[in-house]
Amino acid sequence: MHPKKEVAWEVVELVDNAKREVASEAAMMVNDGEILGLGTGSTAHYFIQKLGNRIKNEEIEIMGIPTSYQSFFLARDCGIPLTTLDEHLPDLAVDGADEVDPDLNLIKGGGAAHTLEKIVDSAAKKFLVIVDESKKVKKLGDFPVPLEVIPSAYRPVTELVKKMGGLPSLRMAQMKDGPVITDNNNFVVDVQFKEILDPQELEIQLNNIPGVLENGIFPGIADQVLVATSDGVESIKKP
Ligand code: A5P
Repeated sequence: MHPKKEVAWEVVELVDNAKREVASEAAMMVNDGEILGLGTGSTAHYFIQKLGNRIKNEEIEIMGIPTSYQSFFLARDCGIPLTTLDEHLPDLAVDGADEVDPDLNLIKGGGAAHTLEKIVDSAAKKFLVIVDESKKVKKLGDFPVPLEVIPSAYRPVTELVKKMGGLPSLRMAQMKDGPVITDNNNFVVDVQFKEILDPQELEIQLNNIPGVLENGIFPGIADQVLVATSDGVESIKKP
C-alpha cells in the first residue's frame, strides 16, 4: 500500500486545485535558457504540464532532467527537450514533498522516486519545493521515512531499523501482486519513527545501513518552498 493518506473526495478536489496553483506559480519562475530538474508526483506533474505550455506558447528554450520514469514520459509528452546530469547540471529543480518542516527539511518518497530526486534536487543551483498546505508540519515524522533498499538486504535492513526504534513496513504494490519495485529495481521500506528529533542525523544514520540505497529525508537541501494556502501562495525562503 502507498503510505499517502486517504481523504474525502471534496478535500481531494481542493488539494488538487492548490497543487495546480502552486505549480503554475513555479512555472512562471522559470527563465528562458534554464536547465530544469523535473520532480516526481502529482504536484510536479502539474508543473511539468505548465512548463510544456510555456515552451509552446512563449517559445522559450528549456531542457529538463527527469527524476523518474513518470516525469520522463510526461516531459516527453509535453514537448520538453530532455538532457542528463552527465551533460548539464540543473539551474533550478522543482519538486513536491510529503512533509516540510519550518527549517525546510523534507520527507519525500511517497512516489518511491526519492533516490533520483535527491540526486537531481541536490545537484541544482536552486531547489524549489511546491506543496499544498497539508504538507506543512511542525516536526517531520507523521509520514513514514521511505528507504530504497536492495532486495537481498531487506531482512538485515529491517532488523537494524527496528533497533533504531523504527517500525518498518515493506511497501506493497496496488496494481501488481507483491512489493513496489522502484525505477532502480529495488524495494521500498517505509519506516515509522515515534519522533524525529534530528533529521540531519537520522538521514546519515539511515544511509549508513548496508543495503539502503537512499532515504527520503532531505535535510536542508531546499532553498525555497511555495505553499498553496486558502489566501494564495506563500513563499518561504531558507534563512
Ligand atoms: C515522489 O517519490 C515523491 O517524493 C513526491 O515528490 C512526493 O510524494 C510529493 O508528491 P505529491 O506532489 O503527489 O504529493
